Amino acid sequence: MKALILVGGFGTRLRPLTLSAPKPLVEFANKPMILHQIEALKAVGVTEVVLAISYQPEVMLNFLKEFEEKLDIKITCSKETEPLGTAGPLALAREKLVDGSGEPFFVLNSDVICEYPLKDMLEFHKSHGGEASIMVTKVDEPSKYGVVVMDETTGKVEKFVEKPKIFVGNKINAGIYLLNLSVLDRIELKPTSIEKEVFPMIATDRKLYAMILPGFWMDIGQPKDYITGLRLYLDSLRRMSSSKLASGSHIIGNVLVDESAVIGDECLIGPDVAVGPGCVIESGVRLSHCTVMRGVRIKKHACISHSILGWHSTVGRWARVENMTILGEDVHVGDEVYSNGGVVLPHKEIKASILKPEIVL
Ligand code: GDD
Ligand code: MG
Repeated sequence: MKALILVGGFGTRLRPLTLSAPKPLVEFANKPMILHQIEALKAVGVTEVVLAISYQPEVMLNFLKEFEEKLDIKITCSKETEPLGTAGPLALAREKLVDGSGEPFFVLNSDVICEYPLKDMLEFHKSHGGEASIMVTKVDEPSKYGVVVMDETTGKVEKFVEKPKIFVGNKINAGIYLLNLSVLDRIELKPTSIEKEVFPMIATDRKLYAMILPGFWMDIGQPKDYITGLRLYLDSLRRMSSSKLASGSHIIGNVLVDESAVIGDECLIGPDVAVGPGCVIESGVRLSHCTVMRGVRIKKHACISHSILGWHSTVGRWARVENMTILGEDVHVGDEVYSNGGVVLPHKEIKASILKPEIVL
């Protein structure tokens, strides 16, 4: 079986992290976002993943080479010379997706995180005999997503409305599809939206089916949702009694600490924290609801909450970093500095407090 992951777009909503790495390579829970997906695809028997990409394919391919071997899965790129939207890339990759088997293929948005119940999806797809299956999930604010109106007993989709201006329902497209090869015949090689053009067409033909996704779901393409997504992901690890979760008297709730990270005395860590490889957390530090990426050093008695600290940054003694502060790569926050929602570009030194949420250039 084949799969295609849509990895175009510049990830602007996740800046400044995406100034240093393409969005799919930004770590989530100590693992690049895209690896969560590739591992899940491998687990249901996918043998080749095609990355539909519109810029910098070399960075992605070089990085993923190591995992091609480790996971024993083929990873290739299909590069667009102009962005082709969410459907055009399928037409471009047509040759790669069609093989002798005639099996359906998966398509994933690159910024969604969930438990990837892909096996259930394969069974669902077989059971209804339609042309395409999509996963849907319920959200409180459906207007920023694609909304699906469906018959909940059969799963048949009546209507698909991308980013509706008026309320049509609260079940939204989760960005995970399983498509028959015949769907490729509906897509021309030009910029096309799968949500605005292809799905509404298949729904009109009564051949689009939706399955309600079990478990949690989050689009982690922006900082606030990324932090919420980490909480949901760690809750799910807890439900599965995962041995990856840290334990000890200095840990509260669900926490991931890479084995190469060094944690000082008298720290208090959690809930909902990920500490990446090579981090040094000095004594007396307090961390909650945050992600600390590879190589970060946090000095004594600093306090970090609801924030993301980019690769190789440092935070000074008694500093307080909170309220959606996002430090880009290699940012240095001075001793006793307070950051209230600062968004700091890579390689900056912060000597004065940031008193209200703002971008620091
Ligand atoms: N190759 C390629 N080329 N990929 C693209 C392009 C392009 O021109 N444009 C967007 N993508 C990729 C993005 O990288 C992402 O993985 C996916 O397509 C969806 O694009 P987003 O920009 O993240 O869309 P969205 O979040 O506003 O909405 C989409 O996702 C929602 C779920 O998170 C839609 O699919 C909605 O219907 C859905 O509810
Ligand atoms: Mg998105």
